[in-house]
Amino acid sequence: MQLEETARRLVAPERGILAADESSATIGKRFEALGLPCTVESRRAYRELLFSSPGIERYLSGVILYEETLKQTAQSGERFVDLLTSREILPGIKVDGGAKPFAGHPGEFVTEGLDGLRERLSSYRDLGARFTKWRAVISIDALRPSRCAVRSNAEALARYAMLAQEQGLVPIVEPEVLMEGDHDQARCEVVTVEVLNRVFEALHAHGACLEGLILKPNMVVAGKKCPAQPTVEAVAGATLRTLARSVPSAVPGIAFLSGGQTPERATAHLNAMNQSAHPLPWQVTFSFSRALQEPPLSAWAGQTDRVATAQKLFAHRVHLNSLARMGRYSHELEGAV
Ligand code: 13P
Repeated sequence: MQLEETARRLVAPERGILAADESSATIGKRFEALGLPCTVESRRAYRELLFSSPGIERYLSGVILYEETLKQTAQSGERFVDLLTSREILPGIKVDGGAKPFAGHPGEFVTEGLDGLRERLSSYRDLGARFTKWRAVISIDALRPSRCAVRSNAEALARYAMLAQEQGLVPIVEPEVLMEGDHDQARCEVVTVEVLNRVFEALHAHGACLEGLILKPNMVVAGKKCPAQPTVEAVAGATLRTLARSVPSAVPGIAFLSGGQTPERATAHLNAMNQSAHPLPWQVTFSFSRALQEPPLSAWAGQTDRVATAQKLFAHRVHLNSLARMGRYSHELEGAV
């Protein structure tokens, strides 16, 4: 019951999730692009900027943290977990060990991290985490994905979800079909349907409680290098068709990743889906990292005197996505910071 309640809270109307769980290596690349040093303190300061932004608690139901951040404190000495909880934002944690090259399958990845996971989950719960995330990545090209990579990742996602639920933590199940490549949207759709079907087959085989998990999928887009890029309406239509064919209605919510789309496109796609003429069986919301963080990160760029401006941009982006999550966004609102 507690799992179901937490899952429903994470996808409550008008709300979505901030993914702030970049590994130190990943955030390091983003900092480096801005000429910023990547240290324990710079990562802490940046995360404090995000979590203490005025107004975000109206629109954020949860924040996914990286293990380092789960144990860090704000400048005031308050633990980030307590700061978020006091703002009624649920703290979550990324628990996978990263996507590693899949032996025997060049160019493909399998996510590791199941060994010792039960003990780690129990310690994260004791530290205040209420939900978790595990990300699998699936790449597309002429020969990929292989059946074996899809099945192995689906199996790992299901084993992770079972362990998380056993420990009373809601699992966010994230099978990400990557945007890298020149494949067209139709190919992304075929692959995403296959991946989601294999994931739900594995979840069913293991006996996961569908009412107590959240799906975090990619939107059905064309590869970044595909010359024929679909319209916003075409992305929304193909994504909803894919989900309808693959995701049981017992799942309370779908919270999308942004995957390298621009912030505006990701918001427009989410909005178009929520404007669907047909009622959707699940809540459809956001769990973006880059599409929420790009504007504040570049505005901040490590300068203390730019914190307030960066926080305003962040809160604005979160608000726009809250509107999109209800189908109430329009492009004209972009400039109204
Ligand atoms: P993006 O929104 O940048 O794709 O990140 C979401 C995420 O959590 C990836 O694991």
